[in-house]
Amino acid sequence: MYKGNIILLGAPGSGKGTLAEAITENYNYLHISTGDILRQEKNSDTELGKFLRTTLGSGNLVPDKIVNEIVETKLKTVDKPFLLDGFPRTIKQAEFLETLTEIGLVIFLSVSDNTIVKRILERGKTSNRPDDSSGEIILNRLRQYYSETMPLVDFYSKQNKLMKLNGEMTKEEVFKEFQIILNMF
Ligand code: AP5
Ligand code: MG
Repeated sequence: MYKGNIILLGAPGSGKGTLAEAITENYNYLHISTGDILRQEKNSDTELGKFLRTTLGSGNLVPDKIVNEIVETKLKTVDKPFLLDGFPRTIKQAEFLETLTEIGLVIFLSVSDNTIVKRILERGKTSNRPDDSSGEIILNRLRQYYSETMPLVDFYSKQNKLMKLNGEMTKEEVFKEFQIILNMF
């Protein structure tokens, strides 16, 4: 069974957080979500907090330098294999990550745009996330995803690390498929 560090790659709403939760319930992995860290940081009384209050929620990506620093700091405290959820999201971030640590497996959750919009609008009814609240912001998140993050599929395919998983299946089926990949990798 594969026991190294894992990246969960996928569009907004593709199920990265949901799969990460199932994995950490069943395996000894640490879940690192840059989205969660940024949302937490947004409430802090710092320069970064102030910056995030005006930028996070628009659907635009946070600048690489800020996210890279957050991940670098976080990885210094980690003492077991981890799951990166929402990082890297640009080629620059992926290159930076290579200077920090080893990644052996990248799970690419593939989901249609239609499903993404439906899922996020549904979650937006209760999530309190400003970036879940309007179709326009969700489309902006998707645009960012296709232009900045999608190239990572090719980046990790070339390294023979990418495994594609059909994210349209039920949550249980997605987790089962993940387990099969973990065992054969
Ligand atoms: P982030 O928090 O990472 O958001 P995201 O990537 O847009 O993705 P979500 O968290 O919305 O979706 P998910 O894939 O985790 O799906 P989930 O499991 O929740 O980032 C937010 C923002 O922070 C970014 O826009 C950017 O501004 C900034 N940011 C973060 N990282 C950054 C980085 N590296 N660089 C620059 N900026 C960064 O599922 C979604 C919904 O679907 C849920 O309701 C869930 O219950 C449901 N669901 C999940 N799986 C299934 C299934 N199989 N069947 C049915 N329903 C399902
Ligand atoms: Mg998430």
